[in-house]
Amino acid sequence: MKILLTGGAGYIGSHTAVALHEAGFEPVVLDDFSNSHPAVMDRLARLTGRPVALERGSVLDTEWLEGVLRRHAPAAVVHFAGVKAVGESVAQPLKYFRINIEGAISLLRAMESVHLGPQPPGPPMLVFSGSATVYGDPARMPITEDFPLSHTNPYAHSKRVIEEMLQAVCLAQPLWRVGVLRYFNPVGAHPSGLIGEDPAGIPNNLMPYVAQVAVGRRPSLTVFGNDYPTPDGTGQRDYIHVQDLAEGHVAALRALLAGTGSFTVNLGTGRPSSVLEVVRAFEQASGRPVPVQIGPRRPGDIARCWADPSLAERLLGWKARLGLEAMCADAWRWQSGNPQGYAD
Ligand code: UFG
Repeated sequence: MKILLTGGAGYIGSHTAVALHEAGFEPVVLDDFSNSHPAVMDRLARLTGRPVALERGSVLDTEWLEGVLRRHAPAAVVHFAGVKAVGESVAQPLKYFRINIEGAISLLRAMESVHLGPQPPGPPMLVFSGSATVYGDPARMPITEDFPLSHTNPYAHSKRVIEEMLQAVCLAQPLWRVGVLRYFNPVGAHPSGLIGEDPAGIPNNLMPYVAQVAVGRRPSLTVFGNDYPTPDGTGQRDYIHVQDLAEGHVAALRALLAGTGSFTVNLGTGRPSSVLEVVRAFEQASGRPVPVQIGPRRPGDIARCWADPSLAERLLGWKARLGLEAMCADAWRWQSGNPQGYAD
């Protein structure tokens, strides 16, 4: 059974492709490599023991997408493709609305014309890469799916708009089956060290930055504020191993295929870690020092953010298994084996 992964060569997409292969599905990767590396495809072939089908192009091209859907007739689509840098989204909001929102509309239109037209191959089924960023700055922790939504930047806004569009589409056309997965903070890498996170330029996110300090690519980490109302003053997040996240997609697809109606769930561990706890765990896992300096707060950051992941367990039978130690050990295996990422 084929599953089409838009953005399948990216960080989360590539790990999900391997998990789907292991679960007996046939992943088809669709990517334009605008924020991923073609070398991922060779790594995927090594991990799965066979070439993984690739469709190279943009989700903005609706007609081409329709052709891809007709050619492969996938049972479902997982929509990862999009841009995700919060700071960049503040500087270039239209880029975020175009790629994320127009990209989603383009995919939905292609799926609509294939699945709701004459001789449909089956109902339209979609898993969407959502984000915990849609909760804004919640008053309480842990976060459940019924918390009010808000946004503080165009990236978060784009994720919210797409969720609302998906709801409207499901309401108008009940044949759709849609699973929205609100990711918390994905980190780590495949335990083989063959695939991992390879951000272009200076990493925005904590774990890849820490990994680059440990491997000697950068001198030190700047901690963005140590005066938050948290136990050690630094921001707390719900880091989730990308392998657990990949399994979450497999569970979501299985639920949709089994006829579970549309759903929206948090994918997190439910356990918060502070910036300094992540740094210490990484030093332990890598055996390398990670010098830190304390800087000012980063605009737009919140103090605390962690999930109540119990709905995903009830609905999908999925639960995160791996802790911070494994996240750091696997991120380090990837970073130390590929100091320059896929360019090595
Ligand atoms: N941090 C530092 N120094 C750095 C980078 C990060 O101290 O160099 C801190 C941040 O201040 C924060 C924590 O590390 O307290 C985590 O920061 P990340 O940038 O790794 O993650 P965020 O929680 O800010 O953002 C992530 C994703 C967003 C998503 C958001 C909420 O990057 O796409 O989670 O889901 F919107």
